[in-house]
Amino acid sequence: MMKSLHVGILLLIVYSTAALTQNQSARYNKFKNQHHNPGMSAADCDSVINGRNISETSTGLCKWTNTFITTTLGQINAVCNNVRGYRLITSNNPFTFIECKLSANNRPKPPNCTYKILQPRPAKNIVIGCEAGYPMHFEKWV
Ligand SMILES: *[C@@H]1O[C@H](CO)[C@@H](O)[C@H](O)[C@H]1NC(C)=O
Ligand SMILES: *[C@@H]1O[C@H](CO)[C@@H](O)[C@H](O)[C@H]1NC(C)=O
Ligand SMILES: *[C@@H]1O[C@H](CO)[C@@H](O)[C@H](O)[C@H]1NC(C)=O
Repeated sequence: MMKSLHVGILLLIVYSTAALTQNQSARYNKFKNQHHNPGMSAADCDSVINGRNISETSTGLCKWTNTFITTTLGQINAVCNNVRGYRLITSNNPFTFIECKLSANNRPKPPNCTYKILQPRPAKNIVIGCEAGYPMHFEKWV
């Protein structure tokens, strides 16, 4: 009884700290590059998006919109706690964020993207794709 309990606890520890696969880790890094920037303001959209070379994955063109969550990474990661297989999760609490919207109708590529400076919106709950305990994708705010 005691022994199986110990094995169970050990398995739990190993499982919850399991390393990400290379693909998961690449997706997590991409999420952070595209969607996390603590303390950013809307005036920073051009410099951050061009500086980080953020573009639409399929075309390489400037994205029409891009959202940066401006809280700490730990607060975002907590939304994905205990999520193993890929699932979209809605946060239970609001997050501050900056929304960057492309200012022109023509779409250049980074480093030539120019974004509008929008008034910040109030904090909203976020919907993110989680896998293996980490955020992999930003879906929307609600
Ligand atoms: C992860 O794997 C999927 C499916 O094989 C692939 O489409 C995607 O490009 C990979 N992502 C990264 C960032 O490597
Ligand atoms: C920016 O990203 C594009 C598309 O992923 C890539 O082809 C290009 O080499 C990158 N540019 C820089 C300066 O990293
Ligand atoms: C950015 O704009 C400059 C000046 O118009 C142009 O020479 C350059 O090719 C553009 N870069 C990309 C990646 O489109």
